[in-house]
Amino acid sequence: MNIILLGPPGAGKGTQARILVEEHGLVQLSTGDMLRAAKTSGTDLGNKVADVMARGDLVTDDIVIGLIAEQLDGEAGEKGLIFDGFPRTLAQADALEDLLDKKGKELDAVVEMRVDDDALVERISGRFTCANCGEVYHDKTKPTSQDGVCDKCGSTEFVRRADDNAESVRVRLSSYYRNTAPLIGYYHAKGKLRPVDGLGEVDEVARDIRKALGV
Ligand code: AP5
Repeated sequence: MNIILLGPPGAGKGTQARILVEEHGLVQLSTGDMLRAAKTSGTDLGNKVADVMARGDLVTDDIVIGLIAEQLDGEAGEKGLIFDGFPRTLAQADALEDLLDKKGKELDAVVEMRVDDDALVERISGRFTCANCGEVYHDKTKPTSQDGVCDKCGSTEFVRRADDNAESVRVRLSSYYRNTAPLIGYYHAKGKLRPVDGLGEVDEVARDIRKALGV
């Protein structure tokens, strides 16, 4: 099963992708995570994209398509792939179709996570992530069970993203509506779109996604 999680910043794509990975053994391909990893390791690519990401603008299509192409060249993903944060433009969507086609793979469904703007800002402003295993938390809705200790790996190191500030969130949202929202019609026309209400609790959204995917 190869799926896309499509939705605005803070919709819960990463949170739901990790649940699908645990439950179904799918492989998560997050272009945001790949770009942040390049930034942290100080590669040329990382230095090139750092400012663009901090502002909340989109990285160029050729860069992110290249990252996904590299991943698809590996052997990972026998049970299926979750594209998280990719594609984000029509050019990326066309490129993904070509890449999958060349690998003899097919896209099964696009889960569109619907969340209103006020909730997105609230979610993004409370987000923090385990620096060791990447588990995503929220100050109010998903704190760690024990203060300052990751539930998954026991690490005590956490990070907050440089682009999780009010100005950058505004740019990311406007970029979503301008560049990415047209993909909703694109995948609807292909009969792949599965809209899901992303406003409920994490477990409720996960249940609705299972239902939408028939798993
Ligand atoms: P990326 O990392 O993809 O960020 P994003 O799309 O802005 O999405 P987020 O990671 O912010 O949110 P999410 O939907 O994963 O939500 P999460 O599960 O964390 O991209 C970052 C940047 O990289 C872009 O701005 C761009 O510059 C660049 N980039 C990446 N891909 C690109 C591409 N393809 N093309 C060009 N540029 C690209 O949840 C958010 C918070 O809410 C968490 O705290 C979580 O605990 C909480 N939460 C989740 N679900 C719920 C729920 N149901 N109820 C209550 N709280 C919840």
